[in-house]
Amino acid sequence: MKVLKFENKKEASVYAANMVLERLRAKPDLRLGLATGSTPIYMYEFLVEDYKENKTSWAKVITFNLDEYKDMDWSNPMSYHYFMKERLFKPLGIREEQTHFPNKGTMFESVIDSFGGIDLQILGIGVNGHIGFNEPGSSEFSLTRTVALDESTIEVNANKFFDGKIKKVPREAYSMGLRTIMDAREIILLAFGEDKTYAIKKLITAKKFNPDIPATVLINHPNVTIIIDSEVDVDL
Ligand code: PGA
Repeated sequence: MKVLKFENKKEASVYAANMVLERLRAKPDLRLGLATGSTPIYMYEFLVEDYKENKTSWAKVITFNLDEYKDMDWSNPMSYHYFMKERLFKPLGIREEQTHFPNKGTMFESVIDSFGGIDLQILGIGVNGHIGFNEPGSSEFSLTRTVALDESTIEVNANKFFDGKIKKVPREAYSMGLRTIMDAREIILLAFGEDKTYAIKKLITAKKFNPDIPATVLINHPNVTIIIDSEVDVDL
């Protein structure tokens, strides 16, 4: 597990975006796992800037998103479909048929396998150590499934995305499992801000998988880069 710390989230995001672009240039039909949330926004902005300047082609890329709220209409601006479409897919010319999300009734792992697996998975991390919506208590063998959001996640998401209105936050979501994430050939995890200190500290000091901090599953992955900003208060 490599941990890279940058002065601020902009520098960190540019570095992460360049890693993605490097992989894309080496493999134009990259199988890319994507995350939503406030963290990857800057990296996505940089990818869009690159597209405008350099016309790097995304035409052959296949994407797999980590998660989506259960029973939420895709046209709802709070949905992860909407987020991805507006912030990344439309600006990069990625067509709907190139994109995949966990959904009711589909075996997501079969879909991923049918495209040869995920080359590179982007992850954020929750303040409680979740990755995707694999909340504390998740099994390291978990596959894509319907999950109940942790109370702490509902509160965090209410404040960040739902104007503090807890009742508006969906209680359930579809999420790739920890096993599914671990099957990606390479992983980049991004964490910005002081409130990620606890989760990152637990992750980088873990000796074995701790289901209370689901991200600790990553210590058993051979190719993980953790990219943090200086607000994440850990000594490296
Ligand atoms: P955030 O969410 O990027 O909005 O901090 C990360 C996560 O909950 O996985």
